[in-house]
Amino acid sequence: MAMHGHAAITRLMARGAEFLGARYALLGGAMSWVSERHLVAALSNAGAFGVIACGAMMPPRLAEEITATQALTDRPFGVNLITMHPNLMELVEVCLEAKVGHIVFAGGIPPGPAIRRAKEGGAKVICFAPAFALAKKLVRSGADALVIEGSEAGGHIGPVSLNVLAQEILPHIRDVPVFVAGGIGRGEAILSYLEMGAAGAQLGTRFVCATESIAHPKFKQAFIRAAARDALPTVQIDERFPVIPVRALVNQGTRRFMEHQAKVLARFTSGELAKEEAQLDIEHFWAGALRRAVIDGDVENGSLMAGQSVGMVLREEPVAAIIAELVDQAAAAYENRGHPAESVPA
Ligand SMILES: Cc1cc2nc3c(=O)[nH]c(=O)nc-3n(C[C@H](O)[C@H](O)[C@H](O)COP(=O)(O)O)c2cc1C
Repeated sequence: MAMHGHAAITRLMARGAEFLGARYALLGGAMSWVSERHLVAALSNAGAFGVIACGAMMPPRLAEEITATQALTDRPFGVNLITMHPNLMELVEVCLEAKVGHIVFAGGIPPGPAIRRAKEGGAKVICFAPAFALAKKLVRSGADALVIEGSEAGGHIGPVSLNVLAQEILPHIRDVPVFVAGGIGRGEAILSYLEMGAAGAQLGTRFVCATESIAHPKFKQAFIRAAARDALPTVQIDERFPVIPVRALVNQGTRRFMEHQAKVLARFTSGELAKEEAQLDIEHFWAGALRRAVIDGDVENGSLMAGQSVGMVLREEPVAAIIAELVDQAAAAYENRGHPAESVPA
């Protein structure tokens, strides 16, 4: 057991852990359909920080999910809201009314009023920063913490890897805690980002196969079988018809998506479809696809959103075992650096 290694990790995580109100500065990244009451409560109960994925839920449904999560844990957890949601302001109110302490805004730069209302209502605001300039702007707009998510991540992704984002952002943003995300599967990586100045880490893919996760057994099997190279971004076949990059396991659906784009493109070229109609037709392809895979277990036609870290998902196991393993790996790596026992960071 790496004793002073554990003390060092506790010290390195102190700022992030205090911000979250958790034992460890580890967030379970919100995953639509997966991050509901059971996984979120299990994460918070295990000393990490769970985040409910609101996704497309309407306000009453979110209120119900928050209440159900509170019944399963006394520890803090957050709620992830997608900024494009038509009822964004109402969703913020739902969180405030339920005394949710942390609101995570995802999917674009959150509108000023949403940030202000969340803070005024007593919640801490966490934002995704896709680049250094935006990171500074978000801090000025009132973000209490940032997540920098590299393109290794599962789901909707930006173009830049965490390796590069970490170098561009961590040395320069010290006013607020910065959490790193994307492709993290082991404690050694968490330690190295903490040493670079990260306040903590956010992981998604690693928790999909937790015993407490309600993801369909077939969805979990696909993760356990997959290697890093199977988790690829969606391919866009024509730049006139942009496709939002989403990293997912390659399956029948991702292959059909290419054929679908080709067919729509042909109908556009022949004059059968107007440009907007063609664009909508392409966007519509994935509607409901994540739910089909996660809940119904249709792993051939649904969307298997997964990060490159999927290769490090080896079995179904309880959240507490995953957290313990990550922390043990980080602690052992600290000791393997050759740090003597008295070197625990202040
Ligand atoms: C299945 C799946 C669904 C996701 N859904 C969301 C979401 O609704 N909102 C969000 O902000 N991030 C979403 N993410 C991203 C995660 O919150 C997290 O940042 C990401 O998984 C980190 O990378 P990793 O998967 O390599 O650990 C999703 C990721 C996955 C794998």
